[in-house]
Amino acid sequence: MLPPVNDDRDYAPLVRQFEEKGYARIRLTDALARDIERVYGLGREFFNRPEVEKQTYSMQSFVEGYRELGPEYSQVPERPDLTESFSAWNRNRGRAEVEAAVAGCELHGALREVSDQLSVLVRGLFGAMRDRWAPGHPDLGFYRGTYVQINYYEPFRHSAEMLQDSHEDAHLLTLVKANAPGLEIEVDGKFIPAEVEGDELVVMPGSLLTLMTGGKIKPMYHQVRNSRRRDPRCSLMLFVNPEIDQKLEPWIRNETNTGIDIIERANEGPKQFGMPTLVDGDSGEAFPELMDHKEAVLAHKPQSASGAR
Ligand SMILES: [Fe+2]
Repeated sequence: MLPPVNDDRDYAPLVRQFEEKGYARIRLTDALARDIERVYGLGREFFNRPEVEKQTYSMQSFVEGYRELGPEYSQVPERPDLTESFSAWNRNRGRAEVEAAVAGCELHGALREVSDQLSVLVRGLFGAMRDRWAPGHPDLGFYRGTYVQINYYEPFRHSAEMLQDSHEDAHLLTLVKANAPGLEIEVDGKFIPAEVEGDELVVMPGSLLTLMTGGKIKPMYHQVRNSRRRDPRCSLMLFVNPEIDQKLEPWIRNETNTGIDIIERANEGPKQFGMPTLVDGDSGEAFPELMDHKEAVLAHKPQSASGAR
């Protein structure tokens, strides 16, 4: 499914970064930096459209496309993440109803291209992790479990100190890049600026990687601080989950992961953020209330309060 590439980069130094610092930084190539800049530009243009246009490109039964501020949160439903977002899942590629919903959306196409490039990094990184911690283990399948997302923040519109409360993503990995300050990561018990607005992206481990490594790599807690800036803030993430149709053995087995089904944890993980399970998103049964909201918006009916701005 991934584009053919000759990727002969050495990923072992990134694994050492994980062991020494708990996460990794990757310098972007000029080409990838340009493609991410293009996503920011398309995102800015997209999120400034009227809601009825944005909802046209939403298929939240599969968690694809545009999603309004409201349903997703980091700690409690009463404090939603103060961002709109747009997602593209690898599992949805080729699905007729999803393709029809996002047809003609340039932002969606650009996200898929960036997703492909970031997935190459993930494949190399997982290979190097396996070689380091569990030589001979099979490849970790992640393609259909993985999605790319752009978040769009308007900091000055909100009085809250945090645009996202502290949390860990409950995935295997999150690759993140932003075009403005705000993201903070917890290092040695203190939140510090992640500094992902330059020419590097950060690779954050989630609790599924902790389970894969028998507790060796801890989940990285992070939050988004409100800069109150008038300029919008865009962030781009690749969220990496395991494919749910594989038997997944941890790389390091010990008392911390005995009897734990990592696939089941992956499936249930999104629920703690108000998001659907992987199974529900894969079967098109996610977010019925958002699908109703979309229909109401498209029919020019009065909007319900829930999920709307
Ligand atoms: Fe997060």
